[in-house]
Amino acid sequence: MLYELERVSFSYPSGDFVLKEASLKIGKGQKVVGIGPSGSGKTTFLQILAGLLKPTGGSLFFRSQMGVKLQRPGEVVMAFQFPESCFVANTVEEEVFLTFREAGLSLKRGEEKLNKLARAFSFDIERFLKRSPFSLSKGEKRKLALISLLVLEPEVIILDEPETGLDGKSIAALYRLLKGLTAETLILATHQIEEVYSLADVFIYLFDGEIVFWGSKEDLNHAPFELRKKIPLEFLPFELALKWKGNQKC
Ligand SMILES: Nc1ncnc2c1ncn2[C@@H]1O[C@H](COP(=O)(O)OP(=O)(O)OP(=O)(O)O)[C@@H](O)[C@H]1O
Ligand SMILES: [Mg+2]
Repeated sequence: MLYELERVSFSYPSGDFVLKEASLKIGKGQKVVGIGPSGSGKTTFLQILAGLLKPTGGSLFFRSQMGVKLQRPGEVVMAFQFPESCFVANTVEEEVFLTFREAGLSLKRGEEKLNKLARAFSFDIERFLKRSPFSLSKGEKRKLALISLLVLEPEVIILDEPETGLDGKSIAALYRLLKGLTAETLILATHQIEEVYSLADVFIYLFDGEIVFWGSKEDLNHAPFELRKKIPLEFLPFELALKWKGNQKC
C-alpha cells in the first residue's frame, strides 16, 4: 500500500476537528477522487496526504513508514486550489527553471518535457517567458502550475480542484492528460463529479470532516441504503443519482 491511514484526525490550532478519524488505504497507481461540499475538509485532507500538514491524531503511513517522507524532490506533488500560491519567481522563465533545478533535470530534458506538456494544454509558453507569473490570467496560471508540477515526473499527483479557472477545452485537455497517467497515483478533489467519474477507481466522500464513504466505483454503485441517506444526490454523477433516486422512491 502507498498510503495507510488509521483513525487520522486533524484540527487547526484555532478550531474544531477538520478531519475526524479517517481510516483508509490508497494503492499505488490508483485514481482517487475526493468529493464533498465546501468546507468539508478536502483541501486539508489533501495537504495531509502531501505531507504539508501533520495529523494531530491517529497514524499515517506512506510506503509503510510513519509520516510522508520523500525519497526525492517531486516524488509527491500537490497543485493548490489557488495556483499562484506556489509561484516564487519574478518571471515564468525563472519559475520553470527553478522547477528543473529542484528536480535535477538537465535543461534539455526539462525543456523537452515542458514543451510536450505545454502542447497538450495548448499553452503557448514561449509567449509568457518574460512575464511575471502573477500577471497571467486565471487559466494561464493554472496551466503553468500544473505543467511545472507534471514536469517533475511525480509518482503521486495531488490536485485540488484542478479545473478551476480553465475553459471547457482546457478542462477536456486536462482530463485527457490525467487519463494518460497510468503508473502514477492520482488523488484529486473536485466539484466536477461528472467529468471525473470515468477517470476514478476510488471515491472518497467527505462531509463535515468525516469520511462517510471510501471505496470503488462498484461499491458506490451498490451502496447500502443507510449510506445513500448520507450522500445528497447533487454529489453523485447523473447516472448514479438517477439510480439512487429511483431506489429511494421504492
Ligand atoms: N488555516 C486554517 N485555520 C483554521 N481553520 C481552517 C484553516 N484552513 C481551513 N480551515 C477550516 O477547515 C475547514 C475545512 O476547510 P478546507 O479548506 O479543508 O475545506 P474544503 O472542503 O477544501 O472546502 P472548499 O470546497 O471550499 O475548497 C473549514 O471550516 C475551514 O474554514
Ligand atoms: Mg478546498
